[in-house]
Amino acid sequence: MVTVTFIEADGARFDVACAEGGSLMEAARAADIRGILADCGGNCACGTCRVFVDENWLGALAPIAELEAATLEMRDEPGPNERLSCQLPVTAAMDGMVVRLPKRQF
Ligand code: FES
Repeated sequence: MVTVTFIEADGARFDVACAEGGSLMEAARAADIRGILADCGGNCACGTCRVFVDENWLGALAPIAELEAATLEMRDEPGPNERLSCQLPVTAAMDGMVVRLPKRQF
């Protein structure tokens, strides 16, 4: 298991055990992280699973794909190092990663 810390917009922190191979969104939903809505179920269509990745962890992530970038462009209030958690497969390199959540997902 890989541990990722989610920080909600109100500052609440949650250390979430994430299974390698699943998506970061799936792990957040399984842990009832309320700031991750994931309305489209992980199909890269809704943009309601956004996270802001701590600068130190950007190198642990796969590059952003064209579809993910297009979905992110539809969202209001962009943030630093924004990614869609449904497009981030959990890997061992993400152990200890910190992500922040937006005030609202839509
Ligand atoms: S769950 Fe819809 S874009 Fe990630």
